[in-house]
Amino acid sequence: MRYMGLLQTYKQYLPINENTPMLTLHEGNTPLVRAENLSAELDLDIYFKYEGLNPTGSFKDRGMVMAVAKAIEEGSKTIMCASTGNTSAAAAAYAARAGLNCIVLIPNNNIALGKLAQSIIYGAKVIAIDGNFDRALEIVREITAKHPITLVNSVNPYRIEGQKTAAFEVSDQLGKAPDYLAIPVGNAGNITAYWKGFKEYHVMGKISSLPKMIGFEAEGAMAIVKGEPILNPETIATAIRIGNPASWDTAVAAAKESQGQINYVNDEEILHAYRTIASREGVFAEPASAASIAGVMKLKREGVFHGGETVVCVLTGNGLKDPNNAINAVTAGPIVVQDSEAAVMEAIRKLEGE
Ligand code: F0G
Repeated sequence: MRYMGLLQTYKQYLPINENTPMLTLHEGNTPLVRAENLSAELDLDIYFKYEGLNPTGSFKDRGMVMAVAKAIEEGSKTIMCASTGNTSAAAAAYAARAGLNCIVLIPNNNIALGKLAQSIIYGAKVIAIDGNFDRALEIVREITAKHPITLVNSVNPYRIEGQKTAAFEVSDQLGKAPDYLAIPVGNAGNITAYWKGFKEYHVMGKISSLPKMIGFEAEGAMAIVKGEPILNPETIATAIRIGNPASWDTAVAAAKESQGQINYVNDEEILHAYRTIASREGVFAEPASAASIAGVMKLKREGVFHGGETVVCVLTGNGLKDPNNAINAVTAGPIVVQDSEAAVMEAIRKLEGE
């Protein structure tokens, strides 16, 4: 049967009524890819929830389709968000689709090139501030409180509702809940949403157990791990360069209730995982996404696993969004040679010798 999008597929589990438009770009329904090589290496049963295959290339589409549908239902004409890039790309796309105005606030010089390109081509009004994501979110909250503009960051509860569907999909694809759900943590909306989704599926009797939620912040932005906001968060994973997560409390609750944990990974570990999943598994995710697999590698070293556990790593965004990091992450760029068979053969021999 033809897939009709997230709202149609999960309407009985979402805040949808006869006035809610069935907006869709065919978000959701993303593959669960088994990590064959890493599973063998780490003695685990590892899967990637490949959210980079959503229409705008990240998991944000799940929450955005719900939030924008509700904004339309409520008669809103304009939506607004702060973003490290993916939320703004999703907001811009669904606003374009629905004929709404979209305003996005981004930290200047700190979002990946592809994400900036997306917001611009979808026609959003893009404003870059001299400040970080946390500051942008504060400003968006102030403006949307005073003006008839709908805030579509994940503090909008409809975002969490849409995003919880990923937990339903993981459960259906595996035929059970995984033992562990590994996920990058930035503003902490997604870990909140997955945990809500798993709990709801459990209450409905669709899964008989719940996963341990293991969330990973970037070391330079590890507010939750430290227990205090970070004023100047820094990490190569710009998507999670966030120092004061809005869904802090619910992320901590998810880790606690599930007997999981919020931990951290450093940039070196993130880049190692980023290269590994691309070069060993053929899956290209952006650096922030690789925090989930970097975290699993870290917990493996720390002896947290017994062996054979099922671990789902959420790969939140597509690697193509951030071409600069990919090119900088490997030392061997393309070598440029003359346009002759001999020159190309010589180059191949040289590369093979490396
Ligand atoms: N991974 C990617 C690729 C992201 O873009 C984000 C968040 C996260 C992980 C973290 O998810 O915030 O729910 O904990 N990006 C937001 C944005 C902040 O503006 O696109 P979270």
